[in-house]
Amino acid sequence: MKQVIRTVIVAMLVASVGTACGDKTSSRGNDEIDRKVEALLSKMTLDEKIGQMNQITSGGMQIYVTNQIKSGGIGSILNEIDPLVVDSLQRIAVEESRLGIPILFSRDVIHGFKTIFPVPLGQAASWNPQVVENGGRVAAIEASSVGVRWTFAPMLDIARDVRWGRSVEGFGEDPYLTSVLGVAMIKGLQGENLSDPTAVAACAKHFVGYGAAEGGRDYNTAMISTEQLRNIYLPPFKAVAEAGVATFMISFNEINGIPNSGNGYLATEILRKQWKYDGLLVSDWNSVGEMQNHGFVKDDAEAAIVALNAGIDMDMENHVYAPNLKQLVKEGKVKESQIDDAVRRILKLKFQLGLFENPYVGKRESVFYAEDHLKKAKEAAIESAILLKNENDVLPLKESVKSIAVIGPMADAQHDQMGTWVFDGDKTHTVTPLAALRAEYGDKVKINYVPGLNYSRDLDKKQFAQAVAAARSSDVVLFFGGEEAIMSGEAHSRADISLPGAQKELIAELAKTGKPLVLIVMAGRPIEIYKELPLVNTYLFSFHPGTMGGPALADLIFGKAVPSGKLPVTYPKMVGQLPLYYNHKNTGRPAQDELPMIDNIPLEAGQVSLGCTSYYLDAGKDPLFPFGFGLSYTTFAYSDLQLSAQEIKTGGSIKVSCSVKNTGAREGAEIVQLYIRDLVGSVTRPVRELKAFEKVTLKPGEAKTVEFTLTADALKFYNNKDEEILEPGDYTLWVGPSSAEGLETSFVLK
Ligand code: GLC
Repeated sequence: MKQVIRTVIVAMLVASVGTACGDKTSSRGNDEIDRKVEALLSKMTLDEKIGQMNQITSGGMQIYVTNQIKSGGIGSILNEIDPLVVDSLQRIAVEESRLGIPILFSRDVIHGFKTIFPVPLGQAASWNPQVVENGGRVAAIEASSVGVRWTFAPMLDIARDVRWGRSVEGFGEDPYLTSVLGVAMIKGLQGENLSDPTAVAACAKHFVGYGAAEGGRDYNTAMISTEQLRNIYLPPFKAVAEAGVATFMISFNEINGIPNSGNGYLATEILRKQWKYDGLLVSDWNSVGEMQNHGFVKDDAEAAIVALNAGIDMDMENHVYAPNLKQLVKEGKVKESQIDDAVRRILKLKFQLGLFENPYVGKRESVFYAEDHLKKAKEAAIESAILLKNENDVLPLKESVKSIAVIGPMADAQHDQMGTWVFDGDKTHTVTPLAALRAEYGDKVKINYVPGLNYSRDLDKKQFAQAVAAARSSDVVLFFGGEEAIMSGEAHSRADISLPGAQKELIAELAKTGKPLVLIVMAGRPIEIYKELPLVNTYLFSFHPGTMGGPALADLIFGKAVPSGKLPVTYPKMVGQLPLYYNHKNTGRPAQDELPMIDNIPLEAGQVSLGCTSYYLDAGKDPLFPFGFGLSYTTFAYSDLQLSAQEIKTGGSIKVSCSVKNTGAREGAEIVQLYIRDLVGSVTRPVRELKAFEKVTLKPGEAKTVEFTLTADALKFYNNKDEEILEPGDYTLWVGPSSAEGLETSFVLK
């Protein structure tokens, strides 16, 4: 009897996880909180109200901070993680200020506080919401133990150009995958109820379109059409707004000439009026004042007016609201009622978090690096690794392998293995691949370790001869390469995304030995390895895998674990192809499969002899590896794709089922993906759109029928008149292992 796995499609996503993110409070609880908020607001002076809208980075116990707290001039403090200082500052707020309003302490806990999980893009490669939820929960338990009750995660920016340093912080290029994983992270961070002391308020950021920065240059200009904004960039934010995320953060960028910090269409019309979202909206760091750099406002006072009018509730580390709003109210340039609306949302969050009843951290036993935390971090690192090539099945290493050469700048890089956005992870706790291989497998194989290069950008080749000698004396060569942590993340975009330093040269030297060569890359983005790929037998991409990346990789290398990760972003052949993404439009002249490439164009070729279609003469039309691609140590076969009907009626749904069989000799997990294509639309539609996925684990020879429910609502889209529409017509549907392959069928939307 085949087991049937059922899953729901995106339109049901929120319905199925609607209150997934810690039912902030029940409706009764909300009414009670609303009453408390109104009662408190009615007692507040204008100064005290404006104080709540002011967020500053921690200055410890300095007098300028404590005096501001005493006068009720600070609503939130960023980056204080000493619980003693947190409680000392909180005591001043609660016991020495006039109204005793507690401070909300916040910190960026993007993929772990002390126990560091794989970078978010790596977690996305797991396509496993549970992995992401676990990461959020562990982060919240550890961060809340020092007093952090608000963090600025998940980052939900869709990224289609991996030159952008912050691609690493999100969940990739697809709106649906990002929506599902964003909801999961919030569920982990916020837990079942925000008033739980281990609950941390999450923050949907960066609202919105930040990842569309021109050229992948951080903070840069974004030009986004209405249909792209609605169909690509907004969906993850809508999903988390409906699933209960506690707060939002506006983004630095402008869209079509309007900086988001001053864009009322986004912050009020869409977020408040259309989505009915009533959580706190915080600026990004300094983003209110930076509207002057954008050339959108002339001074701080105008910045404060424009931001408040747009709907920004709290001014992060910019000191624009605090010094200007009172005078602006007096001058009638802003209304006190606007300030009241912002302060309501701030106070409501503090009540929801239970800060009035339990403002202090007190003495708590340390939860850092708890065994269960490390276990979950290792599981995440295992599921985040993507096997992209495995010629001759070099991995997992065979019993016959008695010696391995461990080479490369990332083999023992305790700091860099954690990746970007790690403020509090302690590198001494990082278990590197070298350490793990020695500890777990040192009795099985002889390990010949030569770094070859001391860090990813190292150009010094003095260790090459030693590294090559180690390779020659070993049965298999494991090269751990990639990027240092600093080469991705905020403000860290790259125009050249190949292996930095002399890594390419070292790989070439190692390849000359003729030994089986395994390339393992730790990085914050897909690395251009177009030229290196033919030189290696196996390519395992692990992003920056975090504290437990070493044990995870060691188990994958020796087969104790089986790779199951799939690409959450398209992997380009070369940087010149970017931006590159699977859900692209077809264009009027789509390239065919057979293309005249630069090396085989005849001399004096006629102007139109190559045909006139959309591709690169030197890179073709395809990526190196497509979105959704990833190999295993076993193989899977898809068969028997069935639809319950060939027609979907508006408001209706159909069932999609497909059998997946493990046709190999090892147990493995396969991420079954469902894509559709709307063949004709009143605006052009993508050639593929991910609408569902399901990760299934299968024993050798085992088959399961995976069943999806595809609703008509999941086929809705926006046109350029900002109308959400559903257009009857013909669709193609695929179920398969990636965005580039799968069983195909069709249906009609009536
Ligand atoms: C940064 C980032 C944002 C972060 C905030 C606080 O500039 O853009 O993601 O949460 O400031 O550190």
